[in-house]
Amino acid sequence: MNNSQTLYYHDKVVRQFSIMTIVWGVVGMLVGLIIAAQLAWPELNFGISFLSYGRLRPLHTNAVIFAFGGSALFASCYYVSQRTGQTPLFAPKLAAFTFWGWQLVILSAAISLPLGYTTGKEYAELEWPIDLLITVVWVSFAIVFFGTIIKRRVKHIYVANWFFGAFILTVAVLHLVNSAEIPAGWMKSYSAYAGVQDAMVQWWYGHNAVGFFLTAGFLGMMYYFIPKQAERPVYSYRLSIVHFWALIFTYMWAGPHHLHYTALPDWTQSLGMIFSLVLLAPSWGGMINGIMTLSGAWHKLRDDPVLRFLIVSLSFYGMSTFEGPMMSIKTVNALSHYTDWTVGHVHSGALGWVGLISMGTMYFLIPRLFGQKKMHSQPAIELHFWMATIGIVLYIAAMWIAGVMQGLMWRAINDDGTLTYTFVEGVKATYPYYVIRVAGGALYLGGMLVMAWNVALTALKGQPALVQIPNTGTAR
Ligand code: HEM
Ligand code: HEM
Repeated sequence: MNNSQTLYYHDKVVRQFSIMTIVWGVVGMLVGLIIAAQLAWPELNFGISFLSYGRLRPLHTNAVIFAFGGSALFASCYYVSQRTGQTPLFAPKLAAFTFWGWQLVILSAAISLPLGYTTGKEYAELEWPIDLLITVVWVSFAIVFFGTIIKRRVKHIYVANWFFGAFILTVAVLHLVNSAEIPAGWMKSYSAYAGVQDAMVQWWYGHNAVGFFLTAGFLGMMYYFIPKQAERPVYSYRLSIVHFWALIFTYMWAGPHHLHYTALPDWTQSLGMIFSLVLLAPSWGGMINGIMTLSGAWHKLRDDPVLRFLIVSLSFYGMSTFEGPMMSIKTVNALSHYTDWTVGHVHSGALGWVGLISMGTMYFLIPRLFGQKKMHSQPAIELHFWMATIGIVLYIAAMWIAGVMQGLMWRAINDDGTLTYTFVEGVKATYPYYVIRVAGGALYLGGMLVMAWNVALTALKGQPALVQIPNTGTAR
């Protein structure tokens, strides 16, 4: 490559995905708040089928995971692969296609799910024509990302890219295998698998969607944006490599913990449990590596709210990756399964880890993408941080108490062997906790709206930045 040539980063697509992260965050969390309210006050579906809980719930999960989380991941992969390789994106037109293609996938989900079209596979509900579109967009994403890595001008491949690469490759394999289906009409298909095999494939997918979509990609964010924001090198680069291999090897085997006490062979369930317990080690290794990056610079946490988002996200990551292995122990799962404890676990990971790290990353990116030194309002970031944190604590504490209570009520038996409580007594006892969750969710969504306002003003004040790629120096 001619080193005297002036090169610029392709940031338009990063800007687009960053803005849509905020938009889809607001939409997905609003739907989350609506279904949380419906669980407390069921009449809120107004008797309209499109607004029924069963249709809005997959809309919520798809919107927050794939639209909000997905957009944040696309933005980060494109930004980080260019910066760490000191090279513009490979095939920028294909990158633009991934943006519009992904928005089309999201729009199709937003229309087809409320209409009631679903495969019934959790987190893979979309029908086969949309599955095909996802495949095309994802392959294009892989071409742009790996193409950019290949044409990098820095010899080393920084560890964040390893995590991004594993996320992209694995999600491709998961999607192809789990969505194998036989069409039976334009918006109807049957899974290629049946019975217990179908369940096993589904939860191999489901758990790795957690491990690779909701974890590995966001660990890539952690390894780039925490050192950048803290202005410190990663605590241990060696640990980051051990972390990578241990994590991706272990995650693959943990899926059966979703199928304890089912028709799945018992040894498979135990294997899933053991790998889930082992998973605690790489998860905590990664968390410690991220948090210790601040060693010697702890004071920065006091006055940098963006860093606080990033670091507190890791505490929630640690919490949910401690809780997950515990819940995978069969005797604990006998209590937690089917209860709101699972929902509490999900949201300590989703709101605490995925949500906060994405928000911190966006607060890092937005000013830079619009040629500004910092966000329009620092106090608004501070306010957002506290609204989000208090919202999470209300949400997850309410679900933990409700979940353990439900589990204990369902299993309580009288001396004569009859059940102590009817099911509806459990529902009645849960009601106050559902109301507390609504309050927590409203706070979390409120924080997101404060962020949307702050982002809009920052973007309007600035203009799309054109950033020159340095010719010399080492990238990080
Ligand atoms: C304002 C914020 C949010 C609220 C109020 C909310 C509320 C809810 C509710 C009420 C459910 C259904 C629980 C049930 O079926 O019993 C749910 C499920 C779920 N949500 Fe959220 N949510 C929010 C944000 C998020 C975010 C940001 C993510 C991911 C990044 C997320 C991921 C999920 C997942 C994966 C499920 C399915 C859980 C399961 O099957 O156990 N949520 N949410
Ligand atoms: C060491 C890491 C983890 C382990 C071993 C683990 C384990 C578990 C277990 C045992 C369940 C309950 C399964 C059931 O009873 O049906 C569960 C559910 C779940 N976990 Fe985790 N977890 C981990 C980390 C995380 C993280 C970080 C997130 C989110 C970012 C997450 C998201 C979920 C979701 C979405 C479900 C609900 C799936 C469903 O039923 O729809 N997990 N996890």
